[in-house]
Amino acid sequence: MGAIKILATGAYAPEHTLDNDQLSQMVDTSDEWIFSRTGMKVRHISQGENTSDLGVKAARIAIQNSGIAPEKIGLLLVSTFTPDCYTPATACIIQEKLGLAQVPMMAFDISAACSGFPYALKIANALLKETPGQYGLIVSSEVISKVVDYTDRSTCILFGDAAGAVVVQYDENAMLYTCAHSRADKETLYVPGVDMQDQTSPSYIYMNGREVFKFAVETVPQAIDEVLKQAGLTIDGIDYIVLHQANARIIASIQKRLGCKSEKLYMNIAEYANTSSASIPVALDEMVHKGMLKKGMKVVCVGFGAGLTWGAALLEW
Ligand code: UT7
Repeated sequence: MGAIKILATGAYAPEHTLDNDQLSQMVDTSDEWIFSRTGMKVRHISQGENTSDLGVKAARIAIQNSGIAPEKIGLLLVSTFTPDCYTPATACIIQEKLGLAQVPMMAFDISAACSGFPYALKIANALLKETPGQYGLIVSSEVISKVVDYTDRSTCILFGDAAGAVVVQYDENAMLYTCAHSRADKETLYVPGVDMQDQTSPSYIYMNGREVFKFAVETVPQAIDEVLKQAGLTIDGIDYIVLHQANARIIASIQKRLGCKSEKLYMNIAEYANTSSASIPVALDEMVHKGMLKKGMKVVCVGFGAGLTWGAALLEW
């Protein structure tokens, strides 16, 4: 059909970690509560590195693994809800840090929260179709610890920092089916911007966890169904489903709804917690390292989060 193909992956997470027991010293919680409700054990937390720093490290690995000359990158997309600054885009900062300032390219950020990676695949597919010789670099990078209130036990246990990156190329023989949606909801999950009445007030994540849980369990199977229908496939024709790693119970519940084996749904939430848009490419990179992804395999990636946004991408490895 002609579509973009993932040529290589890369990932990076800060060395410093925060486990459930350490969090239990900071707020009224326990390893038992966190693990049983979320499946999380450890999260990586940046010690001064910003979103572009994590992104550059993941991007360098992906570029190296692809074997392409970095100067051939004509499109740099960064999905993040924790950019270095309002403007310029973190994509432009990463372009500079990669030493590609003089390379002609389009570089911009995608703000679709935890749906960022499937959104980026859809956008890269549309743009690289116009310039088939060019390579694309997608970086999904988050330093969520910047916007976490470490006195709020309902949110501070959930998030970690990480970055994942992929190098993509348009290929006449590749296949990619995508869907992307938004429900225009500002109340369920958000990080406020500058408070015009009190410009010194901190900007922390607010989330109605139960509502997000219900939303995810409802929309993710629909998104998977949508891309399966486009491809003329059933769930049995899919080798792996890589969901945004938000909660192990969300993943288990979706697995039951889909009626497939748990091995089909990759999970690494115990070691990273929720890293928003980075979670899918970080998972893909791990799967590559474990030798799980073989040429010709069909993989569905699904993201969901603030917006409320959700999106899926069915691709052939
Ligand atoms: O990436 C963006 C997408 N985000 C998500 O997908 C998150 C989806 N939602 C979730 O993962 C779950 O809703 C949470 C893990 C956030 C919360 O689990 P829950 O089973 O929905 O718990 P809850 O919010 O209904 O809270 C149950 C109780 C409350 O106490 P009361 O009111 O019943 O006395 C909370 O105050 O658990 C309490 N609680 C905690 N207790 C110990 C909330 N956080 C904690 C905590 N430790 N860390």
